[in-house]
Amino acid sequence: ITHLLSAADLDRSTATLVLDTATEMATVAGREVKKLPTLRGRTVVNLFYEDSTRTRTSFEVAAKRLSADVINFSAKGSSVSKGESLKDTALTLQAMGADAVVIRHSASGAPHRLARWVDGSVVNAGDGTHEHPTQALLDAYTMRARLGTLEGLRVAIVGDVLHSRVARSNVLLLATLGAKVTLVSPPTLLPVGVDTWPCAVSYDLDAVLGAVDVVMMLRVQRERMNDSYFPSAREYARRYGLDVARAARLPEHAIVMHPGPMNRGMEIAPEVADSARATIVEQVANGVSVRMAVLYLLLGGKS
Ligand code: CP
Repeated sequence: ITHLLSAADLDRSTATLVLDTATEMATVAGREVKKLPTLRGRTVVNLFYEDSTRTRTSFEVAAKRLSADVINFSAKGSSVSKGESLKDTALTLQAMGADAVVIRHSASGAPHRLARWVDGSVVNAGDGTHEHPTQALLDAYTMRARLGTLEGLRVAIVGDVLHSRVARSNVLLLATLGAKVTLVSPPTLLPVGVDTWPCAVSYDLDAVLGAVDVVMMLRVQRERMNDSYFPSAREYARRYGLDVARAARLPEHAIVMHPGPMNRGMEIAPEVADSARATIVEQVANGVSVRMAVLYLLLGGKS
């Protein structure tokens, strides 16, 4: 593939190739010499129109471990504040020799538009409420590393599905890889058309928790919400929060995931987030290996 815009771009063998390549990349992190020369002379642009801690820094670390040059472009402090369009910004960066553009944007579909304007590879690092395919890949990698296989794995994705690009990309990728996903959410926080997604839907977290291998809690995205359809934080935590009592009812082997950033005390209790079954910090570390694999597979074979 030339670009990674959606988890739907990945068929089973390509997705498995990314995960296997990420496993190889993870061995680099454990070595004394952490750098591979693979992308020497290539330029990766991180084009971020929305805030990010994990995704932007892990793409930067990943590109540097492959010896690429990295340009970090943040819309804040750039000529975007003078009204420069996405297209003109992209063409400007391309003129500086970008081989790949990693883009995060508040508009769903922005990476798809960008892919029509630039010659290099485009990687979607999160577009609006649409998709975040490298997050889904690092989540699948983490599940496979902890639990052995994705085939038949029972995964509950819980919370604010309506605003979650992580949920959509995970549902698509996990279905491709043979997992069985159940979305658990209040009816007001489910998107229109969710009945066409390749997953089950439940409104009752307590009914689902006893029979899962993975529970993935989603951040409640207050910044994208109109207060009129949001219940009180206390009510949300009571109905849909993963507190200590609920976590105790998970099967012994089940893991707890969260893409971050977390609202501790809202969708997840601090004690659960910091417990041994939580993989939240592991997910961040795995993100570097997965993003190395994505950049390597998109750019490694091209000159
Ligand atoms: N999970 C995730 O995308 O985090 P950031 O917004 O910090 O990149």
